[in-house]
Amino acid sequence: MRIILSESTQEAVTIVATMVTDRISSHPNSVIGLATGKTMEPVYAEWARLAQIQNLKSEKCFFFMLDEYMGLPKGHPASFRTYIEKRVLNPLNLHVDQFSFPPVFADSIHEAASHYELSLKEAGGIDLQLLGIGGNGHIGFNEPGSLKNSRTRLVELTPETRKANESDFPNGDMPMRALSMGIETILQGKHLVMLATGKSKADAIKYLMNHHDDPTCPATFLKSHPNFTLVLDPDAASKINLKI
Ligand code: F6R
Repeated sequence: MRIILSESTQEAVTIVATMVTDRISSHPNSVIGLATGKTMEPVYAEWARLAQIQNLKSEKCFFFMLDEYMGLPKGHPASFRTYIEKRVLNPLNLHVDQFSFPPVFADSIHEAASHYELSLKEAGGIDLQLLGIGGNGHIGFNEPGSLKNSRTRLVELTPETRKANESDFPNGDMPMRALSMGIETILQGKHLVMLATGKSKADAIKYLMNHHDDPTCPATFLKSHPNFTLVLDPDAASKINLKI
């Protein structure tokens, strides 16, 4: 695991956004895995800003989403698809055919999840996977208790995760379930980049630093990956003993 301690949240965000733009610039056919959540919002804004300055072309890239809520109608403001359309697809002038979204509307979710895995494989796998971390150590929506060999599947959201995201659902219509890439699916990415910012992530980061392959904190599974980069702002790093 490579750890980058930044001096500010903005610096951490810029580091991650630059990893994306550098990757696209050097490998225009890259396959990129996208996380959503509040942590990633400024990363996508910075990516769009850098892409414009650099006149970076992304039309040969392909994007896979990590997860999506089950049961939201198309176009729901809190769906992850809406999030990505607003922050990545539209600002970067990309085409919807460049994206693969978790098949939450399929009749047979189980079959569709296997198909999602197959399309990932056919695309050559993910070159760069962006990840956030839940306060409970989840990655994607792989909640505590998820197994290392898990694949894309239906998951139940924990009360903790539902609480953390409830402000996105002012009407109280937050789903109980989601479709998420599994831990093994994520581990097959070639380069995994996790960004953690803010004090609310400090305990999860401390736990991650001190434990390995611990299902109670799924992020610990990433430490066995040969190319895992953890980017922290000062608040997220505030409970670990590392100096900048
Ligand atoms: C969402 C996802 C989640 C988030 C995590 C942190 O696609 O993968 O694992 O990264 O819940 O969310 P924020 O950034 O809102 O704290």
